[in-house]
Amino acid sequence: MSLLDLAPVIPVVVIEDAGSAVPMARALVAGGLPAIEVTLRTPAAREAIARIAAEVPEATVGAGTIRTSEDIAASLAAGAKFLVSPGTTLSLVEAMDASGVPYLPGAATVSEAMALVERGLKELKFFPAEAAGGVPYLKALGGPLPDVRFCPTGGIRPDTAADYLALPNVGCVGGSWLTPADALAAGDWGRVEKLASEAAALR
Ligand code: 3PG
Repeated sequence: MSLLDLAPVIPVVVIEDAGSAVPMARALVAGGLPAIEVTLRTPAAREAIARIAAEVPEATVGAGTIRTSEDIAASLAAGAKFLVSPGTTLSLVEAMDASGVPYLPGAATVSEAMALVERGLKELKFFPAEAAGGVPYLKALGGPLPDVRFCPTGGIRPDTAADYLALPNVGCVGGSWLTPADALAAGDWGRVEKLASEAAALR
């Protein structure tokens, strides 16, 4: 099963309080989004991954913002089931490849994508999606690289996600709009579930 086929949208989560990880994950799963990317941008991220992995078996929790082999080791130790990087260096892709879990390496240009295809990788994160050219850019990539599928993230909103999902080379999209900081802080799980169910219905 490809990471890109788990759900039309992968929530990209910035979590400040590991205590909110489990109810947040349950709300996302209840809304129909079982693949959850917890970004390693906050001190709470690793603990959040560990709690979701231990307590929400219906979720597939991964680690995002992977930049170093130390990030990979810490994510695997926490129980991450997949890895996502914003961009890709040679040493990082080698380390992700050795991790034994599925991963989405980041690419934003034709040359970056081609370098990853040379390694046999045909499912990539396209980041930062809106800033790098958005839907027209991805559509153009589909000409020379029809065998590559992307998960675009970065600047995608509920009202633009469907345009991305309509492209044949987009498997799913990622975004942080499912888990607004104020909803997490307030424990407004009903709002998170509603946002998730609207996103799950996009395709
Ligand atoms: C990412 O890491 O994929 C992005 O930060 C998510 O982008 P968004 O916050 O614009 O959705």
